[in-house]
Amino acid sequence: MCGIVGYIGEKNSVNFLIDGLKRLEYRGYDSAGLAVLGDNENNVEVIKKNGRLDELERAIQKESPQGKTGIGHTRWATHGKPSEANAHPHIDCKRKIALVHNGIIENFFTLREYLEKKGHIFTSQTDTEVLVHLIEENFNGSLVETVRKVTTLLGGSFAIAVICSLDPDLIVAARKDSPLVIGLGEGENFIASDIPALLQHTKNILILEDNEIAEVSRNGIRITTFDNKPIDRKVFEVKWDVEAAEKSGYEDFMLKEIYEQPTAIHNTILGRFKENNEIVLDELALSEKEINNFDKVFIVACGTSYHAGLVARQTIERWARLSVEIDIASEFRYRDTVIDNKTLVIAITQSGETSDTIAAVREAKRRGGRVIAVTNVVGSSITREADGVIYTHAGPEIGVAATKTLVSQIVALYILALWLTQTREQADSSIIRKIIEEIKSLPDKVKEVLLIAPHIKECAEKFVNCADFLFLGRGVGYPVALEGALKLKEISYIHAEGYAAGEMKHGPIALLDKDVPVVVVANYSSVYDKILSNILEAKARDAVIVAVATDGDENIKQFADYVFYVPETHELLSPIVTIVPLQLFAYYIAKKRGCDVDQPRNLAKSVTVE
Ligand code: G6P
Repeated sequence: MCGIVGYIGEKNSVNFLIDGLKRLEYRGYDSAGLAVLGDNENNVEVIKKNGRLDELERAIQKESPQGKTGIGHTRWATHGKPSEANAHPHIDCKRKIALVHNGIIENFFTLREYLEKKGHIFTSQTDTEVLVHLIEENFNGSLVETVRKVTTLLGGSFAIAVICSLDPDLIVAARKDSPLVIGLGEGENFIASDIPALLQHTKNILILEDNEIAEVSRNGIRITTFDNKPIDRKVFEVKWDVEAAEKSGYEDFMLKEIYEQPTAIHNTILGRFKENNEIVLDELALSEKEINNFDKVFIVACGTSYHAGLVARQTIERWARLSVEIDIASEFRYRDTVIDNKTLVIAITQSGETSDTIAAVREAKRRGGRVIAVTNVVGSSITREADGVIYTHAGPEIGVAATKTLVSQIVALYILALWLTQTREQADSSIIRKIIEEIKSLPDKVKEVLLIAPHIKECAEKFVNCADFLFLGRGVGYPVALEGALKLKEISYIHAEGYAAGEMKHGPIALLDKDVPVVVVANYSSVYDKILSNILEAKARDAVIVAVATDGDENIKQFADYVFYVPETHELLSPIVTIVPLQLFAYYIAKKRGCDVDQPRNLAKSVTVE
């Protein structure tokens, strides 16, 4: 997955392209490049560099390219290693056409063979390069009609932007299964993979849908389907401002986003409960009859969103008394799952663009399931695939490692679980009311946890040279342990395993010694005593213990070397408070090791390829 941008207007396109790419770097940062059409140029001018965007910026300062039409790209390598040759834009043999692409062309081998036989010379190992040669091979005088024809030859997914020196007042963009949005300016227009790249320039957005082509010129946009039916798309006005997507004085986006968690939770809750604590989820448009008809829930998600799903499994089972299955989307999509019209499928994805999750949703629908998506991004692809959507309203998350969107997802899923419980009459309204009151207190409880950040920092810095960690938890503490381990490995590159504490004796215990610290989610819960036994088992192997415990638990100090205290809450709501110290713990270890926490190596914020 990659980020793409485009500009057409009266100014030098390079300024927007670089600015837009900076905001899309979270989508990939293996290489970056741009192509512009200069006024007096017959050919496109292309500059690309391996590595981060700074490399490209330095090259641009030297070469000062000028052009009122341009496209740019930041890459997350899939086919072909990160290198200058594999960086986008790619150009045709005659250097008249330049193209940027996000996605994967699955039939590129066959297409490449065909094009090579026709005499085209390839200069990269990418799947993308076939696209630009295909356009060259099929060029019939109209860039848009040629792109339209080429789309019929492609397998896989793509969002592309193409410019051509024979048609300099035009960018042609097309999309199938990869995101692309168009920003409307005055006498200028923009394209980008994602809305934050456009916000400094416009808040008026057109979302390009799958199987559509846009002709973007400085004074207008024309959208048609691949089979040439005109589309009258409504302009969508974005409500958040640029500041919401910037660092506001924090050292990194990740730290800012950790601190934004109380607000994120507050915004997720906003408008969901009436004064009498009745739950409002009208947007799902599910009738009482349909809800009572469900006999099973199936949750699909990837990465951190999957951990939110593991928490939701326990709340839906406990409160709504529905049996819940859960799978990671990349496994789900190839399983022969038992799903029918009595199955409620919940797809969790902060970006709404994760290709595996979208494919899983399509598969679930094909089998007759009713799909609800939980996502943070309004207008994202998943919202068009699902039957109903719950938005988490956490605000844009830029740090690659998810933090505030996780807590918002978990809270949105609490609300969904309670709503199912209420509608299916599985619990007394006074019990539901009590849990709702407790949910409302979570923002303040998270604020309390954030106050111990200096203590967590001091402790974290003692562990910077460790090579391995084990994270343990039971019940809803188990997904928290998985998430704590995931955060640590993502941003510090230290090996960390999350494990169900009771399962430690079946394997990981063999790894333990004084050099393998064990982080334990040990807040008060129905399995507290069991967790203490697991801590003792680890201590008996000389492991250093870091525990997340409930305020006032003095007892734990006998067992743990370091303790992070969190406020007490309802057991099933506890992941919201217990995950926060583990996010900070991973953050401070990574910072001390000099890692780039916002853009960890090899990772990307949203994975729009399989
Ligand atoms: C990537 C991100 C993770 C995220 C996962 C799923 O791997 O780096 O932070 O949890 O994708 O993303 P989604 O947008 O579907 O929640």
